[in-house]
Amino acid sequence: MARIYLDNNATTRTAPEVADAISPYLGEIYGNPSSVHRMGARAASALKEAREKTAAFLKCRESEVVFTSGGTESNNMAIHGVLRAAPEKKHIVTSTVEHPSVLEVYKHLEGAGYRATYVGVDREGTLDLQALEDSISEDTALVSLMYANNETGVVFPVEDIVNIVEPRGVPLHVDAVQAAGKIPLDMSSSRIDLLSLSGHKLHAPKGVGVLFVRRGTRIRPLLIGGGQEKGRRSGTENIPFIVGFGKALELAAACPEVVQMRRLRDKLEETALSSISTAVRNGAAEHRLPNTSNLSFEGLEGEAILLMMDEAGICASSGSACSTGALEPSHVLSAMGVPASLARGSVRFSLSRYTTEAEIDAVINELPRIVKRLSALSNKTNPTAIRERHG
Ligand SMILES: Cc1ncc(COP(=O)(O)O)c(C=O)c1O
Repeated sequence: MARIYLDNNATTRTAPEVADAISPYLGEIYGNPSSVHRMGARAASALKEAREKTAAFLKCRESEVVFTSGGTESNNMAIHGVLRAAPEKKHIVTSTVEHPSVLEVYKHLEGAGYRATYVGVDREGTLDLQALEDSISEDTALVSLMYANNETGVVFPVEDIVNIVEPRGVPLHVDAVQAAGKIPLDMSSSRIDLLSLSGHKLHAPKGVGVLFVRRGTRIRPLLIGGGQEKGRRSGTENIPFIVGFGKALELAAACPEVVQMRRLRDKLEETALSSISTAVRNGAAEHRLPNTSNLSFEGLEGEAILLMMDEAGICASSGSACSTGALEPSHVLSAMGVPASLARGSVRFSLSRYTTEAEIDAVINELPRIVKRLSALSNKTNPTAIRERHG
């Protein structure tokens, strides 16, 4: 059975053009770019070309591109790197809805003597800009905020954030892992200091990323060793995947499919909301990634919907995390003030440029049936809860 893949915020398929670009570097071109011989020179020139493509994508200097192993490393490098360069400052700012690769680092840092402010969001997932402004002090070493949320797709007003943070002289790191390829990024016109990207979110393989570090930003390396990446990230460069990432960014720069992606996302969302009475959207309608729809189905468990969709050949994701046996509602939806009963019934659909109209039509056809079956089951198995809910 051909599967319908609507979990592209988790990861994307490697583009065939990217796989083709990588292939020679898994074969005959295997030199180390630091070697002086011709094999090394070929690898070094591939590395340079990928850096040029990345710089063109971000509209930045080649020297401002640091290749990493992915979004998690880029985020860790940005946060730890900036703090190590300014050890006298002990206050750090982020939001309540960040990816764990930022939130968990902040929690860790709190244990190591830092004071952290977690700026909140409203019911739509929009950042409280006044609280951000009020949080910054002389002691603030870093503000780290995401461009777009991985669960809801809500896009933060990054230029408003820049206008608050930059005049106060505090470095600003932006986690653009979900935004890249869906929203134009222009480091020549923005004053963002550090920006994280991840290959596998935009049709390159897993295990490659980028940290943009604006010239003049004070940062210490996380990985120390042979001094690669101008001493900012030691370790022999992952040439095949870096080449693949360069290719993926070149393909994403054109972004012609974003309009189609938005149209299909809207079709899926509008039909689900109008045909399923218990469905509600999580997150602002307007300021949102064009590929993401996070819907809650009142009274149902997101996991149950996912399992039935999986049986029907549809891959999506839920906002609840099952780590201790109990289904915990997502920290993002909780921070938005979504009631637990709704948050537990959330499902995230995330499209890619490969998503077709026929696939969306199939989901539109299947979803109401699944919700109806599960509602009937939950009516049977949990009559008290249902009675309470509906009076
Ligand atoms: C917003 C955001 N930041 C960071 C990451 C981590 O990226 P990676 O999987 O490349 O470590 C993710 C991955 O889901 C993400 O969605």
